[in-house]
Amino acid sequence: MQLQTIYEQVGGAETIRRIVETFYPKVYSNEKLRPLFHGDMEEIMRKQYMFLTQLTGGEPLYSQEFGPPNMRMRHLPFEITPERAQEWLRLMKEVFDEMGLSETEAGQALFARLTQIAPIMVNTMLQTN
Ligand code: HEM
Repeated sequence: MQLQTIYEQVGGAETIRRIVETFYPKVYSNEKLRPLFHGDMEEIMRKQYMFLTQLTGGEPLYSQEFGPPNMRMRHLPFEITPERAQEWLRLMKEVFDEMGLSETEAGQALFARLTQIAPIMVNTMLQTN
């Protein structure tokens, strides 16, 4: 039996690219999340593409350019409330549903991983919107 990474199982670069290209337009037009995103959408898409590639067992693209992920630390400048984390995940779930990934085992495994990571980014308990 040949062991495949989640990266390979979900469909590799093409799938990861579609995830980020579908996700960030939703984020940038979401009233709860939009206020946090001041940077260029292309750049955050590029970074998330690199990060998700590495997270799923593809090439360590993110670390090659930026060093250790330290995602919680990198998110500290942004007020991430439980509500915003939930919204982030809700939009990601929409993407997985739209792409048919929610029906695959690998897609479910990746979404489960994101469900574990999102709450770690919460750094603000105040309701900000
Ligand atoms: C839980 C809710 C989350 C919120 C509200 C959030 C918000 C943000 C914001 C505002 C930025 C900066 C964007 C900019 O530069 O304009 C960012 C960067 C980033 N986020 Fe998130 N994020 C969340 C969860 C996650 C999760 C779960 C992951 C990983 C699976 C992730 C991965 C990244 C990456 C890779 C970057 C780029 C970091 C860098 O500057 O190198 N985020 N996020």
